[in-house]
Amino acid sequence: MKIAVGCDHAGFVLKSAVLEYLKGRAEVLDHGTFSGDRVDYPDIAFKVGRSVSQGEADRGVLLCGTGIGMAIAANKIKGIRAATCNDPELASLSRAHNDLNVLAMGGRVIEPAQVAPILDAWFSTPFEGGRHLIRLDKIAACEASAFNVHFSSVGSVMVLHHPLIQHKMGIIRDKKTTVKEFRELVQELAGLMVYEITRNLPLTEIEVETPLAVTKAFTLSGKKLAVVPVLRAGLGMVDGILQLIPNAKVGHIGLYRDPETLEPVEYYCKLPPDVGEREIFVLDPMLATGGSATAALSLIKDRGAEKISLVSLIAAPEGVNRVQAEHPDVDIFIAALDTHLNEHGYIMPGLGDAGDRLFGTK
Ligand code: RB5
Repeated sequence: MKIAVGCDHAGFVLKSAVLEYLKGRAEVLDHGTFSGDRVDYPDIAFKVGRSVSQGEADRGVLLCGTGIGMAIAANKIKGIRAATCNDPELASLSRAHNDLNVLAMGGRVIEPAQVAPILDAWFSTPFEGGRHLIRLDKIAACEASAFNVHFSSVGSVMVLHHPLIQHKMGIIRDKKTTVKEFRELVQELAGLMVYEITRNLPLTEIEVETPLAVTKAFTLSGKKLAVVPVLRAGLGMVDGILQLIPNAKVGHIGLYRDPETLEPVEYYCKLPPDVGEREIFVLDPMLATGGSATAALSLIKDRGAEKISLVSLIAAPEGVNRVQAEHPDVDIFIAALDTHLNEHGYIMPGLGDAGDRLFGTK
């Protein structure tokens, strides 16, 4: 287990007790602070929160004067459930009922000797699930709307509700939209969607010299990106994303549907060689039955990819269910969840055949 730990000056002494406790029990990511000098607790809380939110650490422990400020700040990070637990009973209940993933304690409230029983309780108590999960889902849904996405904890399906995305979706659905407009809109939509999806990419602080002074700035850190369009309609989304992330590598997957078995068959697959070290966005504008998407995801995983998201403009519930059943680890990002598939396998109301509308083949 990996634990992210952080403190401010008022939690500095308590942090030593936490690190001592974790020795031999867990791998520690120490986010500071590293002396008793005054620092602002939110800076540390955000680092630990992001570490947990992004999966770098399994859980986090934060120490400040009371534990309160750290918990408030950490709770601003997506997916964080932080609370102050200055006694073992609270720590135990926080796991059982709240699935607490960041524990905060106060160096001005408890003694270093009290840390071990609190952490014992926190680590040994499992989440009870059931009615508590329903409540956490409600919190997650509220949080997701604050991040302008809709979220379900049954797998991860996020409908991106940004007004520009929804406006453009209205235009591409219109049968009167021309091939030229359709093509441009798919690019724009893909770019806007990826802009939303990447809002939590990890950053590293750097120093840059402006013409006037040296200042702190940020640079992207963490996994590099790759986009993998599923041929042929996925191609329509690539350039819109590359405009924002020009260094992303591009792989391609070609699948056709066997007319007898109706199952997807691979006819082309070329991926970046370092696919395992990249965060992959699989692009397929229409998630209908989920047949091609699940096959594409399996192919990419077979070649070593680990962190994969599926980006589609429109999905049918049938497709979402199939992807979630076969690839529960894959996040699905869509601009609209439509009602059903018709007898020909088209998403209803949908927008017709995205490939034909992109390439003018009908
Ligand atoms: C720092 O003096 C103190 O305000 C901080 O450690 C914490 O207790 C805030 O909640």
